[in-house]
Amino acid sequence: MENYQWYPGHMAKAKKQMLADQKLVDIVIELTDARAPQSGRNPDIDEIARGRARLILLNKADLADERRNAEWIAWYKKQGIEAAAIDARRKKYKNAIIHATMDACHEKIERDRKRGIKNRPIRAMVTGIPNVGKSTLINSIAGKSAVKTGNKPGVTKGKQWIRLNHDLELLDTPGILWPKFDDPVVGRNLAMIGSMNDQILNLDELALDLIRFLVSDYPGYLAQRYQIEEALEPAAILESIGRSRNLLKKGAEIDYSRAALLLLEEFRSGRIGRITLEVPES
Ligand code: G4P
Repeated sequence: MENYQWYPGHMAKAKKQMLADQKLVDIVIELTDARAPQSGRNPDIDEIARGRARLILLNKADLADERRNAEWIAWYKKQGIEAAAIDARRKKYKNAIIHATMDACHEKIERDRKRGIKNRPIRAMVTGIPNVGKSTLINSIAGKSAVKTGNKPGVTKGKQWIRLNHDLELLDTPGILWPKFDDPVVGRNLAMIGSMNDQILNLDELALDLIRFLVSDYPGYLAQRYQIEEALEPAAILESIGRSRNLLKKGAEIDYSRAALLLLEEFRSGRIGRITLEVPES
């Protein structure tokens, strides 16, 4: 398996900024990808969220295996972290997200109440890896009614706070990865779901990895989608996919690279089926 890594300089800078900003927030809302919930969680977030309430949102739940969504939520709750599965494109999750955030902050709300502090909104930092759907979420839950507020006392000039309602304000952050994926499966999963820059990846190899995974964990899905035989070597399966879609080079040779790209695109957009790349450890 290739060992994919991607940590450009702007991400290191963004992490520093988030460490500085964490003093300003009550809770860190972490978006992860429901198709790879663990790989999609930046381990640096534990440092960034230290001493803060936490909420994990498994986004793109519509693309992930429904049974696994439920297993992952139960698993996070067992670790003491509030979690919910969402589709960031849909406004109907707004209230559930606000409730889950308030639940996760109940200790702080209670403390404020005892001290007689009223009308202080909860402030949340929203984090997530690239392409996880952070902008989509903020646009769909904040919408037009959201008030963007800058320049508050104690807040770096120009920082954008998005007020969802009287009780909750969000601070958007850039999507960051971390310097090194110790487990190559993590890099592979992030590459598959499209959270790494495709230009640094070997897409042909990645497609073969995806074929291996699908044949073993979701047997029948490729056969159904492309009308092909699955009991073949991964390269032969890729060739059949290319043939089924008539992806040919000059001289009627199969174009493997186009077949690889097609497979990855169809996986990423959910057209092969609802698939989750990892299961919670028991
Ligand atoms: P980011 O800010 O975290 O980088 O992510 P962004 O909101 O830009 O979302 C990345 C892509 O994921 C977008 O697709 C967006 O529509 C899609 N997306 C976000 N949330 C969900 C979800 O819950 N379900 C599904 N199915 N898709 C979601 P895009 O604009 O087509 O971009 P791309 O996929 O072509 O990169």
